[in-house]
Amino acid sequence: MSTPVVSIEHVGEHAGKEVSIRGWLYNLRESGKLLFPIFRDGTGIIQGVISLKEHPDAFNAAKGLTQESSVVVTGKVAAEARAPGGYELHVSALEVVQRVSESQPYPIQLKEHGVDFLLDQRHLWIRTPRQASILRIRAEAERAARNFMDSQGYTLTDAPIFTPAACEGTTTLFEVDYIDDQKAYLTQSGQLYVEATAAALGKVYCFGPTFRAEKSKTRRHLTEFWMLEPEAAYAHLEDMMALGEGLVSAMVQECVKNRARELEMLKRDVSKLEKIKPPFPRIMYEEAIKVLNENGNPAKFGDDFGGDEETIISKNFDKPVIIHRYPAAMKAFYMATDAARPELSLSFDMIAPEGYGEIIGGGERLSSYETVIERLRQNNLPEESFQWYLDLRRYGSVPHAGFGLGLERTVAWICGTEHIREVIPFPRMLYRVYP
Ligand code: 4AD
Ligand code: MG
Repeated sequence: MSTPVVSIEHVGEHAGKEVSIRGWLYNLRESGKLLFPIFRDGTGIIQGVISLKEHPDAFNAAKGLTQESSVVVTGKVAAEARAPGGYELHVSALEVVQRVSESQPYPIQLKEHGVDFLLDQRHLWIRTPRQASILRIRAEAERAARNFMDSQGYTLTDAPIFTPAACEGTTTLFEVDYIDDQKAYLTQSGQLYVEATAAALGKVYCFGPTFRAEKSKTRRHLTEFWMLEPEAAYAHLEDMMALGEGLVSAMVQECVKNRARELEMLKRDVSKLEKIKPPFPRIMYEEAIKVLNENGNPAKFGDDFGGDEETIISKNFDKPVIIHRYPAAMKAFYMATDAARPELSLSFDMIAPEGYGEIIGGGERLSSYETVIERLRQNNLPEESFQWYLDLRRYGSVPHAGFGLGLERTVAWICGTEHIREVIPFPRMLYRVYP
């Protein structure tokens, strides 16, 4: 019987048995007649022991082997409480698939590097166990988000990336040359399109990349980021606040449950995440202004909240906080207003705890044709490009609502990373489109 090939994350199921692991050499410590390599295979790391006396061929193949050389190793799995992951591999054979040349060593060493250097090496940086853990948590959060939306009866309807017009204001639009002198824009949000699919299918969402030509150089901004955007016909502000609460809780709890090892690798304080369950605190924009003033911040009615304001407000809560009914003048053209207080919009933002900022923005949409036309004009938006959108108000317009959840901000908070650039495989930021 041939030796089974196993992944490191499942190595514990083979304790006492011989297995093969296909991966890379992460590190090598040499100590006389013993070698202590550390292997990685993308699912975890495992320490090996190779003895010159018992397995001279494996010993000679591994001795002096360069970091990140690709290897297939075979050996017996042994429980070892002191080893990372709880197991070690007593190596009996080692095949080098590709040896990294001494003249061009692997550029990322096991020491601290500057972040600009690491970002230039992002295609390699993702191999380090910390970065690989973050990407696994991101995948888990995406899976949890989709499962949750599907379980709530929402149908995934993908939105286009080339669009004829702005959704979130013209200052952050990426213009591209389309075919034959036409101009197109990279989408800032799939919202206008899910408003159309919601009228076709009822409850829908899109989940894909969105683009903002943001000149902001903060730890919360990317120029390309992923957004999950639900939209539902016959839904109101209240419904969306509840849906957002459920979605965020599901994403966090699934990561806590299924990615415990990765969160531990990141040294994340999981007790903070375990508390993230509905209901979340809700305050009106006007109350948020009061909280800010009480904390020495001079914000007044009509001001937008930046990172500093969001951090002050979120400090008062150990769950995400929902701020609703922002002044209508501050919000995008499509936002419905509160009939009882027309100066307020039926909008909400959700602010993550621990200073991670706004993870959700959304609300109820305008449903009347006349009001949409009026708002397009006020915002200097080209009516011709919005004719299809106006059709949604011409033909069976209904109250409807939705929101957008920023995936990277949510994952950065779950992981506790300092900057959101680490939670997307290849970040696109002001001044960075390489690699
Ligand atoms: O608040 P925003 O701009 O809302 C919209 O685009 C709506 N049309 C969504 C909708 O109602 N369907 O963006 C939504 C979320 C923000 O709360 C934030 O989490 C994230 O998208 N986001 C960004 N994330 C990373 N980098 C940026 N530059 C971001 N801009 C927004
Ligand atoms: Mg917003």
